[in-house]
Amino acid sequence: MSSTSPSDNIDREVSRRRTFAIISHPDAGKTTLTEKLLLYGGAIHLAGSVKSRRAAKHAVSDWMELEKQRGISVTSSVLQFPYQDYAVNLLDTPGHADFSEDTYRTLAAADSAVMLIDVAKGVEAQTLKLFKVCAMRKIPIFTFVNKMDRWGKKPLELMEELEDVLGIRSCPINWPVGMGNEFKGVYDRLSEELIIFDSAGRHGEAMVEEKKMSLDDPEAEKLLGSTRYEQLKEDVELLDIAGDPFDLERIRAGDLTPMFFGSAITNFGVRPFLDAFVDMAPSPAEARDQNVEPTRPDFSGFIFKIQANMNPAHRDRLAFVRITSGVFEKDMQATLRRTDRKTKLAYPQQMMASDREMADRAYAGDIVGLYDPGRFRIGDTLYTGEAVDEVDIPRFSPEHFSVVEIQDALKRKQLIKGLDQLAEEGTIQVFRQPGKGTLDVVVGAVGILQFEVLKFRLEHEYNVEVSLRRLDFQHARWIESDNEIDEDELNRADYLKVLIDRDDLPLLLIRNNWALNFTRQQYPDLRLLPNPPGTPGLEQLHESTHGF
Ligand code: G4P
Repeated sequence: MSSTSPSDNIDREVSRRRTFAIISHPDAGKTTLTEKLLLYGGAIHLAGSVKSRRAAKHAVSDWMELEKQRGISVTSSVLQFPYQDYAVNLLDTPGHADFSEDTYRTLAAADSAVMLIDVAKGVEAQTLKLFKVCAMRKIPIFTFVNKMDRWGKKPLELMEELEDVLGIRSCPINWPVGMGNEFKGVYDRLSEELIIFDSAGRHGEAMVEEKKMSLDDPEAEKLLGSTRYEQLKEDVELLDIAGDPFDLERIRAGDLTPMFFGSAITNFGVRPFLDAFVDMAPSPAEARDQNVEPTRPDFSGFIFKIQANMNPAHRDRLAFVRITSGVFEKDMQATLRRTDRKTKLAYPQQMMASDREMADRAYAGDIVGLYDPGRFRIGDTLYTGEAVDEVDIPRFSPEHFSVVEIQDALKRKQLIKGLDQLAEEGTIQVFRQPGKGTLDVVVGAVGILQFEVLKFRLEHEYNVEVSLRRLDFQHARWIESDNEIDEDELNRADYLKVLIDRDDLPLLLIRNNWALNFTRQQYPDLRLLPNPPGTPGLEQLHESTHGF
């Protein structure tokens, strides 16, 4: 007879989950590191498969024709792999410079983030933007300094940069021994062990061999040479005296970032990082920002992403659910909080690379993809048992705007349907111009790549050809005032344009930072909100990172 109750089992399953995303600037090595994590998790046996498929313009998370054509990943997917006793969920955020709201929303489903930095480049623009989203939620951020096999900035310089640019203190968990082709290993400050790597001539496609020893071991000095050995001892002493001490509570609160050094391409430092990460990162039960107790036995989850036509053979949509409590079972019934209706959670899919696998059971922290016949919206909450609070998924004000012009007026219906569905998926936001017909539509996006996605998908999925005429405005602000708003007056200024959103709320397009400040001065009673009233969002992400 088994002595474990179902709730013991839920506790155990939830406590072994680690759900995270990698944030980085393009080219820092996210694809390479992802592949190496899969290698160390035993999910793939020889590295190189992702790269060679990427070379053939088919990266792991590529699914759309457009992505294949351009060789970049436009949407995110989820990888689950085992490591030791842990079940690790890696949410893949698009790496291209032109990202969309999807990138940000994915972070709403992560319990922690790994910030990947190129040792030569330090903190770059996109790292900063994504860091801010993580900092807003105060999730723990692990820093992995990559490409140590090349020459770059000094480790102490990078620590300073994290503090100056991101405003976060760091605590190196390991410290590099050498750099460039002299990068030999790392010193692990917690176990006080020196770890020397040996690729055994295999160039990173297999795990590296590691030799561990105490710094007092005479072999350590012999292996490193006396100059490097003395330097390492000095660095370690300096860190012990002058650096922030290791403090798991501060790490968990997002106040201190544990720092690691390595080289994803050669695998040097990947295992020490992964070991420490699974140990320090919070399980869903320990994560911050929860709307519900993750170990409560009843199921709940929220939809953070909707994606269409992943498989061109099936014209379907998938709604990605981050499970927040209880056990998910295939085909279960749950209540959709927005409508209060029971709905069957059919055909769950768990994503592993580009293959779909049936997920029969999943726990808090896991992500499942549900077939969506158009029933779900981003931010929807699903639950069984007692009702749970909605999750606040941040919205982001678009920064690029275009007027949609249709070529064939007979295709109006398809156009409206297409725009509606793509807006529901969060690819774009759709606005009307007051006083004009339903077809006088302006679309807004967080990244300009979304316009190409829109054009492509309208053509291929809805059979409507459109041209998009870019509008020269940089900001959108929803407007509120205690007094009556004179929209006509606002519209007369050529640096402003009044639009109406899908919920009939007025917003202003504003030409640039100057116009934004000027409008604030000119209309002091007008509240300019970066998001629709009542929704959480990132305040002035664009303004504050402008000119970085
Ligand atoms: P991304 O997903 O963050 O955009 O980066 P990706 O992994 O594609 O890596 C970008 C480039 O950096 C690749 O080189 C990759 O091989 C290289 N790279 C990744 N990790 C390391 C590392 O630890 N050390 C060094 N030296 N290079 C690294 P590429 O020339 O653009 O592509 P490829 O010709 O290698 O395929």
